Amino acid sequence: MKIAVIGADGQLGSDLVKILNTDDILPLFYPDFDITKPEKTKNFLSRHSLECIINTAAFHRVDECEEDPVSAFEVNTLAVRNLALICQELNLVLVHFSTDYVFDGEKKTPYVEEDPPHPLNVYGVSKLAGEYFVRTLLKRFFLIRTCGLYGKAGCWGKGSNFVDTVLSLAEKDDPLRIVSDQTVTPTSTAELASGIKELIPTEHYGLYHLTNEGQCTWFEFAETIFSLVGKSPKLIPVDSVSYGARALRPSYSVLENQNAKKVGLSEFSHWKDALKQYLKTRRYLSDSNSEPEDLDSIEDE
Ligand SMILES: NC(=O)c1ccc[n+]([C@@H]2O[C@H](COP(=O)([O-])OP(=O)(O)OC[C@H]3O[C@@H](n4cnc5c(N)ncnc54)[C@H](OP(=O)(O)O)[C@@H]3O)[C@@H](O)[C@H]2O)c1
Repeated sequence: MKIAVIGADGQLGSDLVKILNTDDILPLFYPDFDITKPEKTKNFLSRHSLECIINTAAFHRVDECEEDPVSAFEVNTLAVRNLALICQELNLVLVHFSTDYVFDGEKKTPYVEEDPPHPLNVYGVSKLAGEYFVRTLLKRFFLIRTCGLYGKAGCWGKGSNFVDTVLSLAEKDDPLRIVSDQTVTPTSTAELASGIKELIPTEHYGLYHLTNEGQCTWFEFAETIFSLVGKSPKLIPVDSVSYGARALRPSYSVLENQNAKKVGLSEFSHWKDALKQYLKTRRYLSDSNSEPEDLDSIEDE
């Protein structure tokens, strides 16, 4: 199957290119390939005898989306509509990614795919509108909502990921203020990419929640990172209001992988195990230290 991966040097895109690992991958890099240029995008994609397009591109700097809703809608909504129209015309499968931020966080148990969305910020609205175009225009799509991504490319790319950011900030010996009133599921892009590889050939098209298992606040995530690497910087829990971010965020955005379990996809690991694997890959951890039982002292919510 010939597959184009849009955003191929992003966190998720680079892991997809690596894991799909076939000569039939067409990796596409911004800004040479820009989904906000509809004509160029269509001309380019129609020349490559593709069967599937995976779109990881997004404008996902959530606070900037509040200031610049036009750019948010250009990338997250209108460009996605254009990709869906291209897939419709060329009869291609579209794999597209959305977010836990389509929910408002009022539900205090994990969100399933049928739960009504109600985003709190521009980013969430623009991603939800993109979802609606995919669902309206196509029959053969995989629409994947995920949460709290971190992956190897995040540490080299323009925006670092949470794990690498807190580890690097801790080097400065200043106390770290970490949000403690938002509950999420940190998710490894390597594991998400494996799930996508397994999902595509099933042809069970539709909407999926795909994240690691379990849940924690960002503060608990940071505590676990430092506990695993054997460091103890001063961590200060702060609430979202005191943290002062421009965009509102849901206080609870844990997703249940309900549809993936229904179609028999391999279960994702617990976020703590995925984190440990990531820290090993990045050589923050050796194979011999921090066996899984070390993690038991840090309880899930
Ligand atoms: N990150 C998270 O925590 C998170 C959580 C939930 C859902 N998601 C969703 O998951 C998906 C993947 O996220 P990610 O963290 O892997 O993102 P990422 O690391 O920022 O990767 C996105 C890639 O798309 C490229 N890109 C940006 N604008 C583009 C455009 N107009 N045309 C073509 N390519 C463009 C980026 O290039 P540059 O780097 O050069 O800009 C980058 O290579 C996104 O749909 C996002 O909304 C992410």
